[in-house]
Amino acid sequence: MKRKLPSSFYNPTTLFGAGLAMLSFGLIVFLSVIEAFSSNNKPYAGILTFIILPIFLIIGLLAIAYGILREHHLEKLGKIRNRLLPVIDLNDVKQKRAFLIFALGTIILIAFTAFGSFKAYEYTESDAFCGTICHKVMEPEYTAYKYSPHSRVGCVKCHIGPGAGWFVKSKISGSYQVYSVLFNKFPRPIEAPISNLRPAKETCEQCHWPKVFYGEKEITNTYYLSDENNTKMTLSMLIKIGGGNQETGVTSGIHWHMNISNQITYLAIDRERQVIPWVKAKSMITGKETIYRSTSVHVTPEELKNGDYRTMDCIDCHNRATHIYNPPSTSVNHVMAAGWVDPSLPYIKSISVEVLDRGYTTTEIALDSIKTLVEDFYQANYPEVFSSKKDKIESAILQLQKIYSRNYFPYMNVSWRKFPDNIGHMYSAGCFRCHDGKHVSADGKVISNKCSTCHTILSQQIGNEKPEFSLNGVDYIHPVNVDKSWKSMLCSDCHTRQEAQ
Ligand code: HEC
Ligand code: HEC
Ligand code: HEC
Ligand code: HEC
Ligand code: HEC
Ligand code: HEC
Repeated sequence: MKRKLPSSFYNPTTLFGAGLAMLSFGLIVFLSVIEAFSSNNKPYAGILTFIILPIFLIIGLLAIAYGILREHHLEKLGKIRNRLLPVIDLNDVKQKRAFLIFALGTIILIAFTAFGSFKAYEYTESDAFCGTICHKVMEPEYTAYKYSPHSRVGCVKCHIGPGAGWFVKSKISGSYQVYSVLFNKFPRPIEAPISNLRPAKETCEQCHWPKVFYGEKEITNTYYLSDENNTKMTLSMLIKIGGGNQETGVTSGIHWHMNISNQITYLAIDRERQVIPWVKAKSMITGKETIYRSTSVHVTPEELKNGDYRTMDCIDCHNRATHIYNPPSTSVNHVMAAGWVDPSLPYIKSISVEVLDRGYTTTEIALDSIKTLVEDFYQANYPEVFSSKKDKIESAILQLQKIYSRNYFPYMNVSWRKFPDNIGHMYSAGCFRCHDGKHVSADGKVISNKCSTCHTILSQQIGNEKPEFSLNGVDYIHPVNVDKSWKSMLCSDCHTRQEAQ
């Protein structure tokens, strides 16, 4: 056979390297073309094309170089040629050909590597990579995200944000995450708060600008009680969003916390930041500081000295801005209000909440049990409803199974109980972590827990009673008689436990 390249090329290592490099290169080109023409995202193909194959390509190239160098080294020892470096003689046709192939190959490769690393970068930033590569690990966050108001906002917009520094930081912590998944070292659930989450100023505030928040937001909620008739209650209120800036002058309401003229620092004694014994409010204009201490949770001087103090930002309230795991009562109220679950089915609210929150060990068991438990309930207690409204019962079951799949992830230990939402105060302490009426300053000032501090109740109607309505706000009526305890206890003291099995 006539050899077209210099003899130093023809050694096993180099030939193997060339084969490997050519094969990888061919596959990369092939897969890239396929990717360019396919419409749906295939995360695994991306990993192969832009991360794994290039590694083989590089190994191949290194093998080529190593083989040639070793060949020269041997030649030197074998005294075939006595020169230190190979001589490139462009007048020799064979050598010219080898040189051209090498030069052209290098140029193509450099161009391709640049393109490849750009694709690799782009790919590790995609939602498919973040949400599905680690498969089951991030499925809860990904699922909750898909059904949230931020489903069109990329994971990286909140978790990385703009700028090179955080990009590198995230790739370093990302590599650790890949390692922890491969070696099964990750916690279940993945823990929040995230210790190295980027400050909200550089993420949320790129899109939401607190200085221009103002006014009030109306919300209307529909609830169903757990009695036989699923008594309906509606509640309409104005949430005092507030905010404003120095020009418009409005510096009150909920976003007051975030306003440029105020800074709130607090100390939490648990990892989840749910128990807060110490709060400091500082006016950024006058510099005046007020320290509030809880009269019910005590801290030792050591805890105060070594505490991990945190300055409040968006995440301290909006911690579930996109990964929302609803309590069963909330989800069931929604589907009943929408008419997807028929409120005329006796005890449907009560049985729904009960079958959803039983703490199943796997999703399959849960979905099966939800079906059998609901069917058994109607068969045993309301046989005539079971036969006359079979279709309503079946579609209710379907809705409950959907609710379960979106809000409970047993293999990751994820549910609303693990990730309390800090907005509001019904299913977790939320605002009442500080606004419980028990945080008092040295001169007797209390962080307000008056219902009208944060919202104005416009109207409330329970069952068929005459609705209460006033633009100045009506007093809240707790829908079932629990004496005055709803005024002295935290709402979550009953509403979290009440739904436990
Ligand atoms: C709107 C902003 C936003 C977007 C978009 C977003 N996240 Fe998050 N994510 C957060 C916040 C806020 C937290 C809670 C941080 C905390 O409490 O420290 C969080 C927490 C997490 C956690 C920790 C576990 C948990 O549930 O708290 C994981 C894992 C996570 N996000 C993954 C993702 C993935 C994957 C995507 C894209 C599919 C994504 N996030 C998109 C804001 C966002
Ligand atoms: C890339 C832009 C972007 C970023 C970053 C972003 N958001 Fe949003 N946010 C949106 C969009 C878009 C909506 C949806 C508006 C709508 O549906 O009307 C939204 C909606 C919201 C809402 C209203 C939700 C509701 O129930 O209507 C809140 C609260 C919110 N974002 C808070 C946050 C917080 C907190 C962060 C940081 C963790 C954040 N956002 C980061 C774009 C963003
Ligand atoms: C003290 C707690 C708290 C902090 C801190 C906070 N928010 Fe809010 N925010 C609320 C509450 C409560 C609402 C109204 C309830 C709701 O929309 O679910 C709200 C509503 C919003 C809305 C929806 C407004 C609308 O008209 O629908 C956006 C957007 C928002 N916040 C963004 C932010 C951003 C960005 C930050 C950080 C700069 C921030 N919030 C800080 C409590 C807070
Ligand atoms: C870390 C503690 C803390 C948490 C959590 C907290 N607040 Fe506050 N809040 C304060 C402090 C401190 C003040 C200021 C009290 C003072 O000095 O007047 C305040 C004041 C307010 C005010 C009055 C602002 C004004 O107009 O003067 C509103 C409204 C408010 N908070 C709403 C909320 C809401 C809604 C939540 C839950 C989403 C919440 N807060 C959670 C500490 C907290
Ligand atoms: C520190 C602010 C604050 C105080 C004080 C406060 N609330 Fe609220 N409340 C909120 C916020 C924020 C929400 C959630 C709004 C939303 O879902 O968007 C809420 C929600 C509610 C809801 C609807 C619950 C749900 O999740 O469906 C009721 C009912 C309610 N509040 C009653 C009261 C009553 C009664 C009081 C007085 C004992 C009170 N609140 C005091 C901030 C406050
Ligand atoms: C002493 C225990 C207790 C306390 C404290 C309490 N509740 Fe309730 N709450 C109940 C019970 C019991 C029901 C009836 C549940 C049912 O019928 O499903 C209920 C029902 C409700 C409902 C309607 C049903 C639903 O869950 O959809 C709302 C809304 C509500 N409570 C709000 C509050 C708020 C807001 C607070 C705090 C200000 C509060 N509750 C404090 C025991 C309590």
